[in-house]
Amino acid sequence: MQELIYQKSKSGRQAITVPKLDVTQKDDLIPNEYVRSIPAALAEVSELELMRHFVNLSQLNHCIDKGFYPLGSCTMKYNPKVNDSLAALEGFRELHPLQPSEQVQGALELMWNLQQSISAITGLPAVTLQPAAGAHGELTGLLLIKAYFKDKGETKRSKIIVPDTAHGTNPATATMAGFEVVEIKSNEKGLVDLTALKAVLGPDTAAIMLTNPNTLGLFEEEIQSIQKLVHEAGGLLYYDGANLNAIVGFIRPGDMGFDVCQLNLHKTFSTPHGGGGPGGCAVVAKATLEPYLPKPIVTKKDGKYILDIDRPKSIGKVKGFYGNFGILVRAYAYILALGSDGLAQVSKDAILSANYLRSKLASRYLVTHKQPCMHEFVISGSRQKARGVSAGQIVKRLLDFGVHAPTVYFPMIVPEAMMIEPTETETKQTLDDFASVMNAIDDETKTNPEIVRSAPNTTVVRKLDEALAARKPNVRWRP
Ligand SMILES: Cc1ncc(COP(=O)(O)O)c(C=O)c1O
Repeated sequence: MQELIYQKSKSGRQAITVPKLDVTQKDDLIPNEYVRSIPAALAEVSELELMRHFVNLSQLNHCIDKGFYPLGSCTMKYNPKVNDSLAALEGFRELHPLQPSEQVQGALELMWNLQQSISAITGLPAVTLQPAAGAHGELTGLLLIKAYFKDKGETKRSKIIVPDTAHGTNPATATMAGFEVVEIKSNEKGLVDLTALKAVLGPDTAAIMLTNPNTLGLFEEEIQSIQKLVHEAGGLLYYDGANLNAIVGFIRPGDMGFDVCQLNLHKTFSTPHGGGGPGGCAVVAKATLEPYLPKPIVTKKDGKYILDIDRPKSIGKVKGFYGNFGILVRAYAYILALGSDGLAQVSKDAILSANYLRSKLASRYLVTHKQPCMHEFVISGSRQKARGVSAGQIVKRLLDFGVHAPTVYFPMIVPEAMMIEPTETETKQTLDDFASVMNAIDDETKTNPEIVRSAPNTTVVRKLDEALAARKPNVRWRP
């Protein structure tokens, strides 16, 4: 375990040199009650020690820059560093959100252009860039649907249909937006069961929330029939765009018949994930929902970009100011750099990687749904479970080989599920290495199951009590 910085502390060492005070000191500048009487208990270390401390800390955690990160549903792909440099350009970085529009025309132009690009990518005309993450975008989208029905006087539309393959945020968001959730079972192919859908559609249906491909990584082949059925019942279709990596540049949610969708910019459009954020999200909708978008919206008037707040039907603000601007810069740079052909190549490569890797694992791990997958796939560890080793233990063993664990036990309809998303940015060699490790772990479940059960064996910390860590996080070091 790394020595703590406090253990290195030696009185008198310092990592910074503060310039000499060159103004007259005013004694009463800080009121007496705020003046510190005991010196702050900070570690006293040299600049080099401080540097090593943070570099070492940064390497304790797994990250995409260090190794493979096949975390299904999360799109942990490599994001070009150039986009970070662009977001850090002084002209973007030093902007103040309260500056008047005339002073920030460049930033507004970027947002406007991004809105146009996202509209072209999704096939839907109305865009807001305000939400801060995917789930936040879902909430924004459902509030638009709610405002729309309220405006039409259809207040009885209180139900949101969610398939059993849906990401957990979908039912949670629907509940948070004040709707009732109606779950429908998937058919044997892992897709929406049309009979089950028909049975729950009615005058109380507000919308169906779908992601396509779904969280099994499978494309909803009956999407045209689904959209027809829902629209005929007077409901709307919400598209969870977290899986856009599989279709970007090929098919558009608008063309599939969706009315509103969210795009997690930090997944498909090149913003690094980290510590739960900061993320970014665009919500895109049909023209009929445009009046309800959060305000302000960047629009163009007399050749100038403005922040339009004169929107009487708007659901209001969903976030301070105008969204996470740095994320918007990254997303726009990524879209411009790739262009439409490059974006289509992203999905082609993501799909190819997933199908290739699935075929390399299929002889050892059970593949419950046989049709080709899109950008991610689910395998079951039920054969290994029969030998006394669970999926949770298998994925922890991967950490010993320098690979991040895939998503596990989700979606819940697959027993001992392991959900793997290789992404388009990995080489064939990395995928081959991963398959070899997974197959070696399968061998271990027969020859040395204990080494899998006890994993991780080589990481900085061993098996954690995850429930305790989540409920009672202990993040403070005390001497
Ligand atoms: C299918 C799906 N929908 C929604 C979300 C929520 O997105 P966020 O984590 O940005 O809130 C995720 C995130 O993992 C997802 O995979």
